[in-house]
Amino acid sequence: MEALGIDVGGSGIKGAIINIDAGELMGERYRIPTPDPSTPNAVAETIKQIVHHFNWSGKMGVGFPAAIQHGEVRTAANIDPSWIGVDAVTLLTKKTGCQTRVLNDADAAAIAEMEFGGGRDNKGVVFIITIGTGIGTAVFTNGRLLPNTELGHIFLKNGREAEPYASDAVRKSKNLSWKKWAKRFNKYLNEIERLFWPDLIIIGGGASKKDEKYFSHLVTKAPIVPASLLNEAGIIGAAVATKYME
Ligand code: BGC
Repeated sequence: MEALGIDVGGSGIKGAIINIDAGELMGERYRIPTPDPSTPNAVAETIKQIVHHFNWSGKMGVGFPAAIQHGEVRTAANIDPSWIGVDAVTLLTKKTGCQTRVLNDADAAAIAEMEFGGGRDNKGVVFIITIGTGIGTAVFTNGRLLPNTELGHIFLKNGREAEPYASDAVRKSKNLSWKKWAKRFNKYLNEIERLFWPDLIIIGGGASKKDEKYFSHLVTKAPIVPASLLNEAGIIGAAVATKYME
């Protein structure tokens, strides 16, 4: 079976047709820069363009950079604040005509990693952390997701909120070396380990492709691996999530 997977990011909105039984892209992905301001209507229009690009009318799954409760957007750290309270499922269904599921972007990436990637068959506590414009988190235990964990926003021992201290966007804007940034990110991982004791940590998002630049600087108790589906995990997982439509 196939579904359209969409990943709404801080800098780009990406889509691809996914074979949801194999967890694989059926062809090239298509990317459009995230509109600025990223208001509900502007983002919905961009998603409609992606739907038209693929001439798609089937099911669509959308990974969105916010907590999504029963289809409604609850937070807006890296997206226009006018999204808060919007029923994203209704908006995108009306705009595109596709039967739509919307879920948190890190949850989407994690669903893909747990079904097809490095978390497969792991029954323990698995943390998937996505690093990009924001820091996204997803927690699985015994193969089940606890949705909408917003643990990129915890405070570290130095009193700083994790996301504006250790995201990949901060590495770029402050021109930090990989080593310097890894030191910051490691403080975040240490705090996560102190509070949650994961059995496995999987790193996804844009930075998962560059693991050779910083993984050697990370010291964790649990094994830590880059997402095996790399940056495509978000698109794949969003499409796969349509299998479990509410
Ligand atoms: C948001 C999360 C999201 C993460 C990654 C954070 O700022 O609060 O919902 O998963 O960014 O996009």
